[in-house]
Amino acid sequence: MGQNSRANYRVNTTKEAKTIASRLLKEYELQKVTKFGLPEIDDRYHYWRVPILAENGERIGEIVIDARSSLVVGKKSTTKDQLEARLLKRPGHRKKRVSDVNQRPKISSLRNTIGLGDSEELLLETPAESVDLVFTSPPYFNARPEYADYLEYDAYLNKMQRIFHQCHRVLQEGRMIVVNVSPVLIRRASRNEASKRIAVPFDFHRILIEEGFDFIDDIIWVKPEGAGWATGRGRRFAADRNPMQYKPVPVTEYVLVYRKKTSKLIDWHIRKHPDKSIVEQSKIGDGYQKTNIWKIHPAFSKKHPAVFPDQLAQNVIRYYSFINDVVLDPFGGIGTTSRVAHKNGRRFVHYEVNPDYVEFIKRDLCNWYLGDPDEITWVNTEIPRSIQTGFK
Ligand SMILES: C[S@@+](CC[C@H](N)C(=O)[O-])C[C@H]1O[C@@H](n2cnc3c(N)ncnc32)[C@H](O)[C@@H]1O
Repeated sequence: MGQNSRANYRVNTTKEAKTIASRLLKEYELQKVTKFGLPEIDDRYHYWRVPILAENGERIGEIVIDARSSLVVGKKSTTKDQLEARLLKRPGHRKKRVSDVNQRPKISSLRNTIGLGDSEELLLETPAESVDLVFTSPPYFNARPEYADYLEYDAYLNKMQRIFHQCHRVLQEGRMIVVNVSPVLIRRASRNEASKRIAVPFDFHRILIEEGFDFIDDIIWVKPEGAGWATGRGRRFAADRNPMQYKPVPVTEYVLVYRKKTSKLIDWHIRKHPDKSIVEQSKIGDGYQKTNIWKIHPAFSKKHPAVFPDQLAQNVIRYYSFINDVVLDPFGGIGTTSRVAHKNGRRFVHYEVNPDYVEFIKRDLCNWYLGDPDEITWVNTEIPRSIQTGFK
């Protein structure tokens, strides 16, 4: 899809889409009590979707326009009756509510932070609505001996839910949480038993919805040279040929994107950002990922068994945050999210329970941290003076 499929569009710009929608609202005699959100083109169905907002900015419906015929698609659009009913439910819609109009996204005052400990506890001490993006890869359920803390899957999920609950509290309104997660394979204990696949991402979906996030996207991270070969799959092609014994080698992981529930449209964060130059500088450059399939080589580290690649972190950070935003990783590992956030002009909050990984970051910091380590907030751990002298 894209430019070629748009060649025969009669409606090509947001302005044209708004003009058509405003004609309809005039017919409905609602043009004085409504306004438009940002129209978006839906390439798949060749539709323009023009959000209709009440005067206080709340979304009350949308007008859908066929981009090729320029006709309003009646059965997909919010009806006049629905718009009127929704407006009437909002008493005083004719008067602008000053608090709504003047409301702006908050600018967090958090400094770069490195904390040692269980993030469930560290997050309790983190101020509400002080984080602009959460990007994380949670520990695997029992996949490796070092994660054997969670012997029961339910206990593991409960722990994750408590941590996501805190993530929701510390995240600003309408901001994103992006979770890298994939199904796990529990290997069979003996030849007489079956191995088991656990669909962790689908349980995470339920948890995130329960905690008050809206689902936004499922990005599929494809590892070009494979990833699942080591699990035993892919070495059993003979068995694969028996119907029902077929088992594909997993070469993907999910990157699930959710947004903290809000009545505000996504462009509110752009329109109301207090610093227009930051918005401009944060624009995503050419060559960005245009589909939800991201081909990125996996990363390996001698220091940590499950790091994610810088490229993955960089995409997420650039696509879902502004420069100077605060990016939290509650399962920080050896600091990929924080290092990449810093390189991209964002602030970071790194929480990690394993002291060895925190010690590693302390040593590694002089390779990438450009500021004064004294300006980092250290929680449950201190930066030794000897490390400080290593800074350039
Ligand atoms: C999959 S790894 C993340 C690796 C990281 N993305 C990186 O690139 O270094 C998950 C990490 O979460 C940590 N962890 C597990 N439970 C935790 C908890 N309750 N609080 C904080 N960290 C935790 C583990 O020690 C592990 O380092």
